[in-house]
Amino acid sequence: MSFLSATLDRVKASPTITISTKAAELKVAGRDIIGLSAGEPDFDTPDNIKSAAVRAIAEGKTKYTAPDGMPELKQAICEKFLRDNALTYAPAQVSVGTGGKQILYNALVATLNPGDEVVIPAPYWVSYPDMVLLAGGTPIIAKASAQTGFKLTADELEAAITPKTKWFIFNSPSNPTGAGYNWAEMRALTDVLLRHPHVWVMTDDMYEHLTYDDFKFCTPAQVEPTLYSRVLTCNGVSKAYAMTGWRIGYAAGPQPLIGAMRKVQSQSTSNPCSISQWAALEALNGAQDFLSANNEIFTRRRNLVVEMLNKAKGISCSKPEGAFYVYPSIFGLMGKTTPNGVIITDDEVFATCLLEDTGVAVVFGAAFGLSPNFRVSYATSDDKLQEACKRIQVFCDNLT
Ligand SMILES: Cc1ncc(COP(=O)(O)O)c(C=O)c1O
Repeated sequence: MSFLSATLDRVKASPTITISTKAAELKVAGRDIIGLSAGEPDFDTPDNIKSAAVRAIAEGKTKYTAPDGMPELKQAICEKFLRDNALTYAPAQVSVGTGGKQILYNALVATLNPGDEVVIPAPYWVSYPDMVLLAGGTPIIAKASAQTGFKLTADELEAAITPKTKWFIFNSPSNPTGAGYNWAEMRALTDVLLRHPHVWVMTDDMYEHLTYDDFKFCTPAQVEPTLYSRVLTCNGVSKAYAMTGWRIGYAAGPQPLIGAMRKVQSQSTSNPCSISQWAALEALNGAQDFLSANNEIFTRRRNLVVEMLNKAKGISCSKPEGAFYVYPSIFGLMGKTTPNGVIITDDEVFATCLLEDTGVAVVFGAAFGLSPNFRVSYATSDDKLQEACKRIQVFCDNLT
């Protein structure tokens, strides 16, 4: 009898962590490495948020809280949903967890039974399929294409839904592509969902505030209010507020689901860190002006990376609406050979050679379910991005 759970055989370790580990090893060995694989902003947490946490410690707000969040934070989350998304939720419909990841995981554990299917558009955030597997469900991958800017069409969603579908996981702006669905594109998907009343929607709005140019964010329950009773609207402070290490995510949805998620959380982590909850309260209620300042920086970096990558021979890169990722295609490089004699047969070989030969760490597309591509995170300085893109251009030039 195996000591380890059989469930683990179905799950793989995070490929983004595999790349970061390899990059770290090369760095220790003295190589000049530029990491474009991390999924977190390089900005520091704003001072007002840090001060709120220091105050919470000084005031002894260091005890257990309610399992799924303290009332003050739940109230602030309700106000945020009304202010930003025109969605009305009561505090009893809100759940706060240890990061957006735990919120999604709680919801899946609380609802999935063996045989239940979860539709996940590809390219997807690496954790979705494995979280579904860990929770005992079956991920059904619906592939979007580069031709639609990596956005799922109504027909593609329709084709993926079966009588066994329990959830549709939706993420806009997307990790890994940065693609954001506008109102009409989302409307096309919500129209499909209206025809399938047994399908619930888990919308991961983590990158809501990171959008560029004239793009206007929207979320499924806002676009189609009829879906309100079967949508879990998930969000968090990690990305927009540069708070990845604080570990606070949240969701709002129908009360029975929120109650089931509370049960899961109360028997696992008890509650999210009390000090981080006070910091998150300040993030949501405090000044928001740094968001537009950060977005100006991200817009500039996105434009720089897209322009430089499109100048690399064999790479084509579209300009996405949000997040801090681009997802270039390496279709034009397939079958070429590196100066060390390695043939580029897929995007994993490409990413490995790129790291070993040039010191630039990116994540290969297969990890996100759509190849041949790679993900670049542009949440790093302009200088590093410029140098990394130059190295990618030279790498491509040297392929024969
Ligand atoms: C799409 C998406 N959802 C959720 C998360 C998890 O966020 P958190 O760090 O709050 O757990 C991430 C983090 O990379 C993400 O990219």
